[in-house]
Amino acid sequence: MKRGFIFDLDGVIVDTAKYHYLAWRKLANELGFEFTKEQNELFKGVSRKRCLEILLDIGKVEATQDQFDTWMVEKNVDYLAYIKNMDESEILPDVPKVLDFLKENNIPIALGSASKNAHPILEKVNLLHYFDTIVDGNNVTKAKPDPEVFLLAAKQLGVSSIDCVVFEDAVAGVEAANAAKMISIGVGDEIVLSKAQFNFKDFTEISTDFIKYLMKN
Ligand code: BG6
Ligand code: MG
Repeated sequence: MKRGFIFDLDGVIVDTAKYHYLAWRKLANELGFEFTKEQNELFKGVSRKRCLEILLDIGKVEATQDQFDTWMVEKNVDYLAYIKNMDESEILPDVPKVLDFLKENNIPIALGSASKNAHPILEKVNLLHYFDTIVDGNNVTKAKPDPEVFLLAAKQLGVSSIDCVVFEDAVAGVEAANAAKMISIGVGDEIVLSKAQFNFKDFTEISTDFIKYLMKN
């Protein structure tokens, strides 16, 4: 049996949820309504298009197709400005510890993210070289909780899906991992992520012994 390890990006490897939030809040304010941090929770793991649909529902704003497309672009331009100067300091604690351990043990590693900005972010924080394959919002047609992103990652790693482990911070992501019949590890609030098979607050709680256990069981 060969295990593959698949990581979500936003909220697992880097704390970009705050930048997504600032960009969505700016758009909401321009459209004349508030957008709270609590509402931003609904956006985790969710595609950009679906996020805008939810945002417009919150603000009760009707949009033409042209407006919708313009706001999608505007949000991303603002988001890109926020992440422009990101560097290694924004990697979440102990993520490199786990990536290094997997690399030392020749375990294949994939990214499985909804974001279309995954590649430049991994480059900015200097983590790109860890990943054997990257599957992101540019490669899939069905958003999480559909398992497509993780199934494609497993295929590209050459590992059967039931032998993959997924780290996720979003409900939709945990559901996608479960739907792919993978081992789901919730990183974050264990009540929110109660559908995960294992729960940890963050990577500081994930020991290399636990990773070793996942590699063998
Ligand atoms: C996910 C984030 O990783 O990517 C979502 O959790 C975001 O909040 C989604 O909407 C799409 O990201 P992007 O970078 O393509 O707008
Ligand atoms: Mg995430």
